[in-house]
Formats: sequence, structure tokens, C-alpha cells
Amino acid sequence: MSPRSWLFVPGDRPERMAKALGLGADALILDLEDAVAAGAKAAARDAVREFLAQRDTVRGPALFVRVNPLDSTLIADDVATLTGGAFDGVVLPKAEGRASVAALRAMLPGDYAILPIASETPRAVFTLGDYDGDGLAGLTWGAEDLPAAIGATTSREPDGGYTDPYRVVRALTLFGAHAAGVPAIETVYPDFRDLEGLARYAARGRRDGFTGMMAIHPAQVAVINQEFSPSAEEIAHARRIVEMFAAHPGAGALQLDGKMVDAPHLKAAQRILGRVPGP
Ligand code: COA
Ligand code: MG
Repeated sequence: MSPRSWLFVPGDRPERMAKALGLGADALILDLEDAVAAGAKAAARDAVREFLAQRDTVRGPALFVRVNPLDSTLIADDVATLTGGAFDGVVLPKAEGRASVAALRAMLPGDYAILPIASETPRAVFTLGDYDGDGLAGLTWGAEDLPAAIGATTSREPDGGYTDPYRVVRALTLFGAHAAGVPAIETVYPDFRDLEGLARYAARGRRDGFTGMMAIHPAQVAVINQEFSPSAEEIAHARRIVEMFAAHPGAGALQLDGKMVDAPHLKAAQRILGRVPGP
């Protein structure tokens, strides 16, 4: 099952990286990019290298490292840090379509999964339908860097909802991920003290077809895991649909509780059951 929660941890905070292992996140993103100040990049690389060297490869969350962007002078040293380390994948900020994924892949010391943050530059918006899903851990987006890049003052309305440009970008990322056949990962909810708002935001993401979400704070992990797991009622309902079609092998459309169910309902039910964790 692809990760539900992806927790960011600044790469220059070794004590936070160690703590993050036990917080229940499905994946950690050890950050070498925006959460690390320019003067702390070298120390962050050393801390991440040390952390990966001590990894328990049997238990614990998946480990991803966010490197600096391809057009920075920092990425070569970031990638060099990873050589020999035990990690699962790399998060690529400011990604711009399949060419940028190929460029990163050519630099990596092996065949690792890549999670592009696919909406952080104006050009990136026009590549959201361009991704090839091979080797991608998913596709995700961000609502902070793009407004800064175009001189917008914010990506949010006073009530916290996205402004129109960012609603478009979110939807394009969602469909771009599904067009590539990879998980769509919802972006962070920065107000980490507002857990009720987070729950509503994550529930909306799952409703719309995202299968996981990035987190910035430990308190967000349990909420995200919960919201991106199918509920007992959803699982029971999905089982009824699958069983009903199994009992009527020739049927295209059937009725359940007075409502029509046909091929897309069966597909949705199978998708839900595919996300039920094993025993
Ligand atoms: N990973 C692991 N532990 C974290 C954490 C994280 N991302 N964020 C907070 N913690 C820990 C703190 O160490 C602290 O632990 P303690 O109680 O044992 O001392 C506890 O959680 C509570 O932290 P809190 O005081 O609520 O937050 P803060 O003010 O120290 O930090 C942030 C707030 C936003 C700076 C911090 O959560 C953070 O660095 N998040 C990630 C930022 C990031 O990577 N951004 C890049 C992508 S957008
Ligand atoms: Mg950023």
C-alpha cells in the first residue's frame, strides 16, 4: 500500500529525525531543501548521511530525502550524500515533467523511487500531464512556492480555501497523477495546531482521489492516517458490492439498497478493498 502520511523532517535536526521514526508516519521526508537554511546545508547532509547509515532496514517508515532543485548548485552534493545510504526514494522539488525525473534518475546512485513536487514553478504547471509513472512513488504539489514565483501575495482566501489558480493546480496534479497511474499525494496543511481543519482538508483530499498527504508536524500524522484509511462502513459497503457482482457473474448493472451499481462502483469498491491493510 502506498504511504498515507509523509512527514517532513528538517535534515539539520538529527534529534527530530530520530524521533520521527516512532510517530506512526508511513514515510518520512528528510529535507535538504527549503527547511534548511543556506548556511546549514552541509551540516544537514552530514546528519542525513549518519541517520541513513544507522537505519533499521526491517522496521520503520519508508525514508525519502528531499534534495535541492535540479537547477541549483546544491543538488550534486545532496545526491553524493545518498550514496551508500539505506533509503527508499528521493523527493524532487520544482520538478518540471518527465525530463526532470529522467535528469534526477541519471544522477542517483541506484534505482530509487522518485516523488516529484510537480507544481512549484509556472512552467511546471504545463507539465502536470507529462509524467510517466515508471518508478514514481506518486505525484504531489505545493501551494507555497508557486505564488512566490509569480508575485502573488497568497494562494489562499481569507477562509483558508485555495484561490482559483491553486484550485486549478491541485486538480491538474490529481489528474496528472492518475494519468500516470501513480498515487496522488495532497500537499501540506501548514496550520499544524488546527487538527479539525486538517481532518476536513484531508477528508476532502481523499474524497477527490488523493491517497496520501504530506505532513509537517507530529500531531498531523494520526489524523492523516485516519482520514486516508477506508472506514469500517466503507469497507463493509465495498465488500457487499464485490460479493454481489461475484454472485451475479453475467450482470452489468445491479441494485443495492435501491441504488444502481455498475462497473465504476465495482472498480471503486475494489480500490477501497485494495487499501485495507493486511492482517
Ligand atoms: N518531525 C519530528 N518531530 C517534530 C517535527 C517534525 N517535523 N516537528 C515538531 N517535532 C517535535 C518537536 O521536536 C517537539 O518535540 P518535544 O516535545 O520532544 O520537544 C514536538 O514535536 C512539538 O513541537 P512544537 O513545539 O509543536 O513545534 P516547533 O515550534 O518546535 O516546530 C515546525 C514547528 C513547523 C518548525 C516543525 O514542526 C518543523 O520543522 N516541521 C517541518 C518543517 C519542514 O520540513 N518543512 C519543509 C516542507 S513544507
Ligand atoms: Mg518549497
